[in-house]
Amino acid sequence: MLHSKLPGVGTTIFTRMSALAARHGALNLSQGFPDFDPPRALLEAMARQVCDGDNQYAPMTGLPGLREQIAAQLQLYRGVSCDPDTEVTVVPGATEGIFCAITAVIQRGDEVILLDPCYDSYEPAIDLAGGRAVHVPLLAPDFRVDWERVAAAVGQRTRMIIVNSPHNPSGSILDAADLQELQRLAEQHDLLVVSDEVYEHLVFDGRPHHSVLQYPALRKRSFAVFSFGKTFSVTGWKTGYCVAPPALTEELRKVHQFVSFVAVTPVQAALQEFMAAQPDFPASLAAFYQAKRDLFCDALAGSGFGVIPSAGTYFQLLDYSDIADTADVALAQAWTREHGIAAIPVSVFYRDPPEQRYLRFCFAKGDDILREAARTLCAI
Ligand SMILES: Cc1ncc(COP(=O)(O)O)c(C=O)c1O
Repeated sequence: MLHSKLPGVGTTIFTRMSALAARHGALNLSQGFPDFDPPRALLEAMARQVCDGDNQYAPMTGLPGLREQIAAQLQLYRGVSCDPDTEVTVVPGATEGIFCAITAVIQRGDEVILLDPCYDSYEPAIDLAGGRAVHVPLLAPDFRVDWERVAAAVGQRTRMIIVNSPHNPSGSILDAADLQELQRLAEQHDLLVVSDEVYEHLVFDGRPHHSVLQYPALRKRSFAVFSFGKTFSVTGWKTGYCVAPPALTEELRKVHQFVSFVAVTPVQAALQEFMAAQPDFPASLAAFYQAKRDLFCDALAGSGFGVIPSAGTYFQLLDYSDIADTADVALAQAWTREHGIAAIPVSVFYRDPPEQRYLRFCFAKGDDILREAARTLCAI
């Protein structure tokens, strides 16, 4: 008899909504990926690397030259130095990095604090490691962390807290005061931290991104995880990296080498080439995505949706409580079928969804698509 190790897990809502959108020819603002091309120079580098470069296994930790570029960007954008040999590991996607970090350090019975709503890969990784997720809700409408509530959730068995800024799905960001609270709590209770920073360059309105790597006491106890997919619009390349102090990196690599062993060689070489040639590219992202956020939000003015412009990521939450009283999963499916627009219901990011009415829209789309989506939403 087969006993599922993850009995509560089915096909994710992202896969289901994208399939439903395709079936009904709907505008798909559900799954989080750009509908435009990555930088041409990056694609050309990739073609060159496949045709003329190395197509065999890279070193387990990642190409040395790419790890050096990662360290250089960390210095450039965050003012933080790290050793590319002992602190940087290239992984096939941030999801794999997060999985390896959790698997490497969580023991049977350990508790891990998650801030709901949260990205759906965290809890299954904790479950598979024999740990237990303890859920603390973020507070709508601005989805800030209630640090008193987090402190109250810390117990004898608490080993780790996972944070994500900029935050999917809410678009909120952690500020300096949040990082200081996190640092205080982590030090006081000797917690490890997984910091999911895949949207680090997508922060708007002139505000800075705060990385755990910039806070010395957090730096010592954190796995910071990043995704090239988000920064360079190549989500399908599934490549990211993890920065952690040597002792944590050593444990992470023990798992990584048996989960995937390596990330794809020509992808790494192409990223290395592009990052060396255009180190300023990530600096252009905030203005680029902020313009899309503004286009989408401005076009919804007067629509009846509650709109608090996203502070980061390429997601915008819309509060539809003045428009419909249907639960969000049913509503997202109905609007895909009936109005031809697909979004992600926010309740799926919670263990115990509160009574609220939010849909998440991805604005990493062409401007015409965003205008059409807003017109459709205004007409509902
Ligand atoms: C918060 C968050 N973390 C991690 C990931 C996964 O990144 P990757 O595709 O590099 O595995 C995503 C992708 O949507 C995300 O939104």
